Amino acid sequence: MRTSGWPLARLTLHLLVLLARSYCSLADEPTYRPAVAEAFKTMTDGNISAILDSLQTGYDKRIRPKYGESHVDVGITMHILSISSLSEVQMDFTLDFYFRQHWTDPRLSFPDRGGLDELTVGSEYLKKIWVPDTFFANEKKSYFHTATTSNEMLRITNQGKVLRSIRLTITASCPMNLQYFPMDRQLCIIEIESFGYSMDHIRLSWHAGDKSVVIESDVSLPQFRVLGYNRKTIISSTSTGNYSRLLCEIMFVRSMGYYLIQIYIPSSLIVVISWVSFWLNRSATPARVSLGVTTVLTMTTLMSSTNAALPKISYVKSIDVYLGTCFVMVFASLLEYAAVGYMGKRIQMRRTRVLAIQKLAEQRKQQVDHSHTSHDHPDHAPKTTVRYKLHDPKTHSKGGTLENTWKNQGFDQVRYKLHDPKTHSKGGTLENTINGRADEEAPPPLANLLPHKDINKVAPTTSRAALR
Ligand SMILES: *[C@@H]1O[C@H](CO)[C@@H](O)[C@H](O)[C@H]1NC(C)=O
Ligand SMILES: *[C@@H]1O[C@H](CO)[C@@H](O)[C@H](O)[C@H]1NC(C)=O
Repeated sequence: MRTSGWPLARLTLHLLVLLARSYCSLADEPTYRPAVAEAFKTMTDGNISAILDSLQTGYDKRIRPKYGESHVDVGITMHILSISSLSEVQMDFTLDFYFRQHWTDPRLSFPDRGGLDELTVGSEYLKKIWVPDTFFANEKKSYFHTATTSNEMLRITNQGKVLRSIRLTITASCPMNLQYFPMDRQLCIIEIESFGYSMDHIRLSWHAGDKSVVIESDVSLPQFRVLGYNRKTIISSTSTGNYSRLLCEIMFVRSMGYYLIQIYIPSSLIVVISWVSFWLNRSATPARVSLGVTTVLTMTTLMSSTNAALPKISYVKSIDVYLGTCFVMVFASLLEYAAVGYMGKRIQMRRTRVLAIQKLAEQRKQQVDHSHTSHDHPDHAPKTTVRYKLHDPKTHSKGGTLENTWKNQGFDQVRYKLHDPKTHSKGGTLENTINGRADEEAPPPLANLLPHKDINKVAPTTSRAALR
């Protein structure tokens, strides 16, 4: 019993010592891979080539760190250097930034020897280690800067923390709502995600909290101001799994100045200019017409030039409402002139017609009074005859003038009245008629002075009472 119990106790003690030793080694210093430990065993001072070589020995870059243990946390920070464009037509924006990724790869840890706790190595070394497969989900185009060498940086600490920084220029899509254009704000987002590793493998996070995204204070765009930015962490679900996604949202606000100077003020002034024609004389046709047409055309040009720089969107924008209102006002002032001209012409025609009829009646009365003795007709008969002739449909339909008809019946005085320039409207403008400057050589058919329906309606034997 005593001889058999002793080895058992020794074994237990041995096990306990082993357990304690392994626990102590876990707590005190990290375990290194055999190759690294071997390299550092013989190393007296920091031979960096030896360290890098030892880190490579037995390292499989195809396998992510901590595979089978836990996921890798990749911390990200962005330093935005410039935002070069924000295009409405393409619906995208372009920005230039330092993109930094932090992660821990325990395989790259090495003993701290002589204050050597961090290695800053050339970016070529990146090809020899595992790197996260981060991509930009809404990217359209990207550009790596290579002057003078690839703009990339790699740092490895002795605890295996890796920092990779790269300078990128990215054009990312930014769907815009232009309903309030040009008083709009646009929210543009950069989406960062791992391409192949789902959340079980890689989890992205903002590395430095509030300072994860830094925008240089002098970042400016011709038309926009950066109002602010926001960070978010979401999970994007696809059929291949759930992926961790980071969002960097940048809010832009459009500066109104350009549109105020180039569009709002000029279009307002054009509307005011179109009102100038209201103060012009009604008879100043060339001035009023050219003013109206010019302002309408200018508004059309302004509208089309504004929309030329925008995508062909189908909804109404704020600027469309303003320019549309201006256009309607300019157009209405042109129509106003047309309406005034037409109504003036109608009033003048009616007045001329009344005058002509009155004069005819007067003349006839005088004539009748004059030749009362030479004719057997009663007093009222000649007047009736004259009015009947005025309404004779023959004069209208056959294109003959009343002159001939009356001549046949011996009314020479009537002919003079027909040549009265005031009754003349053929080929003359309204003003000419008003001012009595009509061409006297071509007397109009009297039918022009009367509405056609009257001519056809009134029978040749109509009495004076019926005419009223
Ligand atoms: C550093 O290590 C390399 C091998 O990894 C060796 O060839 C070189 O001589 C060493 N340099 C120094 C200064 O020890
Ligand atoms: C993704 O997440 C949803 C819940 O957010 C879960 O129901 C689903 O099973 C997950 N898919 C995978 C492949 O893990």
